[in-house]
Amino acid sequence: MTPSCTYVIFGATGNLSRIKLMPALYHLEAAGRLPKGTVILALGRSIQDRDQFISEARSWISDKARGGLDEAIFKRFTGRLRYFRGDLTEPKMYPQLNSLLEDHSTFPGNIAFYMAIRPTDFGTVVERLNAAGLLQERDGWKRVVIEKPFGYDLESARALQHLIGKHLREEQLFRIDHYLGKGTVRNVQVFRFANLLLEPLWNRNYIDHIQITHSEQLGVGSRAAFYDSAGAMRDMIQSHLLQLLTLAAMEPPVSMNAEDLRDEKVKVLKSIRPIPSSAVHAHAFRAQYREGQINGKAVKGYLQEQNVPAGSTTETYAALKLYIDNWRWRDVPFYLRTGKRMAQSRSLIGICFKRPPQQLFRDTAIQRMQQNWVLLGIQPGESLRIEMTVKEPGLEMHTRQTSLEASLRAEGEESTDAYEDLLLDVITGDRSLFLRYDEVEQAWRVVDPVIRTWATEREFIHSYPAGSWGPKESRRLFEKEDHHWRHCLEPECQQ
Ligand code: BG6
Repeated sequence: MTPSCTYVIFGATGNLSRIKLMPALYHLEAAGRLPKGTVILALGRSIQDRDQFISEARSWISDKARGGLDEAIFKRFTGRLRYFRGDLTEPKMYPQLNSLLEDHSTFPGNIAFYMAIRPTDFGTVVERLNAAGLLQERDGWKRVVIEKPFGYDLESARALQHLIGKHLREEQLFRIDHYLGKGTVRNVQVFRFANLLLEPLWNRNYIDHIQITHSEQLGVGSRAAFYDSAGAMRDMIQSHLLQLLTLAAMEPPVSMNAEDLRDEKVKVLKSIRPIPSSAVHAHAFRAQYREGQINGKAVKGYLQEQNVPAGSTTETYAALKLYIDNWRWRDVPFYLRTGKRMAQSRSLIGICFKRPPQQLFRDTAIQRMQQNWVLLGIQPGESLRIEMTVKEPGLEMHTRQTSLEASLRAEGEESTDAYEDLLLDVITGDRSLFLRYDEVEQAWRVVDPVIRTWATEREFIHSYPAGSWGPKESRRLFEKEDHHWRHCLEPECQQ
């Protein structure tokens, strides 16, 4: 049985807590997965007291609760909820927090500190927790959950690691990449390692290239203060999309335990061919959205969004071509791409197979054989699609593409949010879906040459109208003329 714990949420009144953490904890309560005696201590500044926090939490959870908010579950949930009003920049807050948490009749001694705060505060908060004695494991484990981004580039990631590594052992650190908790993402491993069918084909002999796409209709919204200094390469590619790449490309691990899994992921990252600064433009492309239309409604361009500095050249679209120099993948291009204010919100992994070695149907009406694709749809919906060529009915030798499609969820089966799985893993101490420090460092090593070059090129950035699939010029990354972007599962959705 999992022992009870105290979940301390730093930044409990902020955006992440409202839209993800509180609803996820409520859903864990509903599923009966929070160990008996577990307490949630919400820590924030802008809300006065527990009653007000509960009334706010009610509205955040109501917006997200599957099947609507259930009063009985909410009552049980709020029974666990405590509120501590404090300012994390204030050093004297930490000893106060310590005295509160010492009351083990209310707060279990196993404590998870969740940092739903500005990345620039991660280091200071850990230092102060340590100084107040809050990280000592005398009376139970102490774990720290850190949201992305871990650092701003390779150097700052190293500095942050150096700082927090003084106070925490690697086993106490849970670096979140919420993509790893998503249903289809977890399914990539099952799909690859619980089925033999595709494994013989899963290599450079049969695969032409792999695409990993995340597109969003949303713009930067109210996050410009953070986003403008990050950009799409740091925000999505360094973290989520490189993680997806490791799962698609890794070797079968020795076992499914956290260290064995992460060892294999690190090997992939280490094998990625470094991009020399002279080749950045051949490997990476960036652009920014301008005014356009989303679902028939006019929307602003990035430069008109609130808090975006005039003349900013921060990218809201980024594409990257990578090669993995190992036996399995040598010379197979991996195209990673993400954008805000795109035509649709989609995430998918597309595996495109090579053409058959001989064009046997050349003397017929068939001009050119199509390629097979395996598509793993991550969102919306979790699905698998395999595309093949078949003969059309009739006297002529015509072919068409057909597909085997499966939703990974049966009718009536609910999907859980990634944060539910991840919050639970922190309690049970399962780190397999969290990033080990060497993964983070290797991921920064991959994108560092690109962000360094882009930082020096501040005069010009390509643009694309909001509501489009991004600029055509990004095609310059393609290794072959017949490569095209696969935007979504439907074949007509390509560019
Ligand atoms: C976050 C990024 O990590 O992931 C956001 O900071 C992005 O910019 C989000 O919108 C996408 O996550 P999801 O779960 O909505 O696909």
